[in-house]
Amino acid sequence: MEQKLLVEKLVAGGVSLARNDDGKVIFLTGGYPGELIRARRLNTKRDFELWEPVEILKESPFRRRKLCGSFPSCGGCDWQDLEYQEQLKWKKIIVEEQFRRIAKIEVVIPDVVPSREKHYRNKMEYVAFHSSGELNLGLKRKASDRPVQLDGCVLGNVPFEDLRKRFQRLLNEHSVKPYNTKTKTGNLKHVILRKSSRDEIMAILITKKSEFLELRPIEKRIKSEIPQVNSLIHVHNSRDDVNLRGPYRVLYGEPVLTEEIDGILYQIPPTSFFQVNTWIARKILHYVSGVLSERKHSNLLDLFSGVGLFSLYLAESFESVLAVENSAVSVKAFESNARINQLENVRVLKENVASFLKKAHGKYDVVFIDPPRSGVGKPITMITRLKPSILVYISCNPTTLARDISYLMRSGFRIEDIRAFDMFPQTHHLETIVILKHPLSL
Ligand SMILES: C[S@@+](CC[C@H](N)C(=O)[O-])C[C@H]1O[C@@H](n2cnc3c(N)ncnc32)[C@H](O)[C@@H]1O
Repeated sequence: MEQKLLVEKLVAGGVSLARNDDGKVIFLTGGYPGELIRARRLNTKRDFELWEPVEILKESPFRRRKLCGSFPSCGGCDWQDLEYQEQLKWKKIIVEEQFRRIAKIEVVIPDVVPSREKHYRNKMEYVAFHSSGELNLGLKRKASDRPVQLDGCVLGNVPFEDLRKRFQRLLNEHSVKPYNTKTKTGNLKHVILRKSSRDEIMAILITKKSEFLELRPIEKRIKSEIPQVNSLIHVHNSRDDVNLRGPYRVLYGEPVLTEEIDGILYQIPPTSFFQVNTWIARKILHYVSGVLSERKHSNLLDLFSGVGLFSLYLAESFESVLAVENSAVSVKAFESNARINQLENVRVLKENVASFLKKAHGKYDVVFIDPPRSGVGKPITMITRLKPSILVYISCNPTTLARDISYLMRSGFRIEDIRAFDMFPQTHHLETIVILKHPLSL
């Protein structure tokens, strides 16, 4: 079924919104505000329909030439053919709308802090798949689990496209079979490239099975033929629902990637989280340090701390820092990062944040919370008991952020400031930071 639709606006989740003749809301997988689109229905749900553009009948003046050959089918980008200033404008509108719709509050946020537009990602996770009888390294398609071939991807750091092709060629020469999630055959699931701003590159091969028969000769060839790769890791991950998890073995090179931000060193193990846009991560750290410098604070609680990005950067401004993180690998890295930076006032607990909050007591001057995309939900209100003077919520998902902020506001917290940072240009994603205070804890 096809229909002509006039796009009203861009909304959360990387889709645009239009209405049919009866005023019913229709979500589109493409199309920019003001455009008239001939679209085809993909699916019908009880409360919304998803359509995909077939032809643009009237184009937005802000549409530009696409940046790579795989757009728009590739799920890596949503808006790469939209002028960058428009991307930033719509991200701001979307955050404000999520607060209005979900938290039922009106907020006006400053302009989104821009990023380098291209080659900003320090990590790319390529899916291995079969295409025309060969192994291919690509990304997932939009709104689908099916992978797509890449052609000049602009998201990854500059050397990544060249390295991806060289890995692809080499893996094919050794007849490596990609793992197929449907037939459960093959073995290689992903190739991940990570790069530090010191130009160290780590390559990670992830397999479904613990054994990887072709590994030895492949390792030898990567070492001699792709010298830009400083370390090579093999991860065994039998789970189909997450990419970067499981026991790993260092084949050669360092077991960690070392990042440096304003003199603080971070050693990042292959399977640990680190912010993907280091340039924007630094801007966020500067903003947060500025907020905290307005007053003296004694102790910091850093929830969902990862390898210690915030804890270690801010440690000098506090008497003590307690961090909570549930990944054993990241906790170990956090501890060694504290040692490397000679910070003796930081401590990390390997624990689930919700169970930590259930039994936590005492007062924390500042609480940081940086959860995964799913946010925290109702347990977030347990933070109120810790009486923070400042609560800093960092989120990559404005929808769960607005929900959690509404819980916090019902517990008495008030918003002091909201800032948005474009951690992910060409996509609908962004990072938002909310500073909250509680009138009874000042
Ligand atoms: C968005 S990352 C933030 C990490 C860190 N703040 C940073 O900026 O590098 C979320 C972190 O929370 C951890 N995590 C996820 N669920 C958790 C839970 N329920 N309890 C504790 N840590 C969790 C993940 O391992 C990851 O390191």
